[in-house]
Amino acid sequence: MSERVTISVIKADIGGWVGHSSVHAALIERAEEFLSREPHRQLLIDHYVATVGDDINLILTHERGVDCEEIHQLAWDTFQACTEVARELKLYGAGQDLLSDAFSGNIRGLGPGVAEMEFVERASEPLVIFMADKTEPGAWNYPLFKMFADPFNTAGLVIDPKMHAGFRFEVHDLIEHRKITFSLPEDMYDMLVLIGAPGRFCIKSVFSKETGEIAATSSTQRLNLMAGRYVGKDDPVCIVRCQSGFPAVGEALEPFARPHLVSGWMRGSHSGPLMPSSARMASPTRFDGPPRVVALGFQLADGKLVGPQDFFADTAFDNARKLANDLADYMRGLGPFEPHRLHLDEMEYTTLPDVMARLRDRFEEMDE
Ligand code: F6R
Ligand code: MG
Ligand code: MG
Repeated sequence: MSERVTISVIKADIGGWVGHSSVHAALIERAEEFLSREPHRQLLIDHYVATVGDDINLILTHERGVDCEEIHQLAWDTFQACTEVARELKLYGAGQDLLSDAFSGNIRGLGPGVAEMEFVERASEPLVIFMADKTEPGAWNYPLFKMFADPFNTAGLVIDPKMHAGFRFEVHDLIEHRKITFSLPEDMYDMLVLIGAPGRFCIKSVFSKETGEIAATSSTQRLNLMAGRYVGKDDPVCIVRCQSGFPAVGEALEPFARPHLVSGWMRGSHSGPLMPSSARMASPTRFDGPPRVVALGFQLADGKLVGPQDFFADTAFDNARKLANDLADYMRGLGPFEPHRLHLDEMEYTTLPDVMARLRDRFEEMDE
């Protein structure tokens, strides 16, 4: 094989079992069977079908680079094949993230979320795939900042000469469709002005300043903005390369030990703690949540996915889960009040326009 390898993580919710809580085993089986069948198998070096909540995450390795039409088509066709099963079983929201009837060259913009990176496989290549449910792409801003820019999280920024120069961050403005690159630590305060608003600004990718190599990349698709109405949240994925000049695996996992508040809980309209969960425990229940994150570790071996290691199954994350549950209790107590419920401008695809239209004639001018 050529020495360059591409990892593509492509995800979609194409039907929940039960409600929006998890993926039925028959869908995982169909995805497995479809990807393993000829000629599909020949396009790939390896694949792994993962789930978090109601989302199927296809982890694909190949030699075809990012934005490859055949790979995107394969993911699209796999989701279509799973949708047939979802329809037979009358699963909830069957086919919901496939916004178009036809594939047209690239899966971006058609509904599914995509994170891809191409690199030369190192002598040893540890990767962590983070997958979240009931939240949005900006949910990665806080942990990516901590992994690659916070010396209190990542000792390597201080201690490892290969990390000491810092990292470059590509940040996307999802509303204005533009991007900007920051060089940290110098630009830290400027970048925080933007990424502290994760509903609009998202860290797309991170690069090593020492080598120029890609270190992390995330999905930044906003389904609601694409569909023009509320169709569910854009449960995101993120790929992080670890060790030897990148964060250690433990430094990549550390930000999740203190659950941060993210948008996307219940009806995509509430804020709640992002709870680290094992793959088996990642079925949002309470108030359709709380939002979950799963971390799967793989060693790449000539593009083969050796794994996964289900990191958040570890007891070391029990306290984080307890804190997330305590935060969930507190937030739920606020009911329909902000900041549990999202701000009005993030609710524009829900009932707000209808209610405002109905109330329009009941508003009166005030004297002062
Ligand atoms: C789905 C989600 C859920 C749903 C809720 C209502 O990602 O966040 O909380 O929004 O279950 O779903 P519908 O509108 O499909 O009845
Ligand atoms: Mg769903
Ligand atoms: Mg989901």
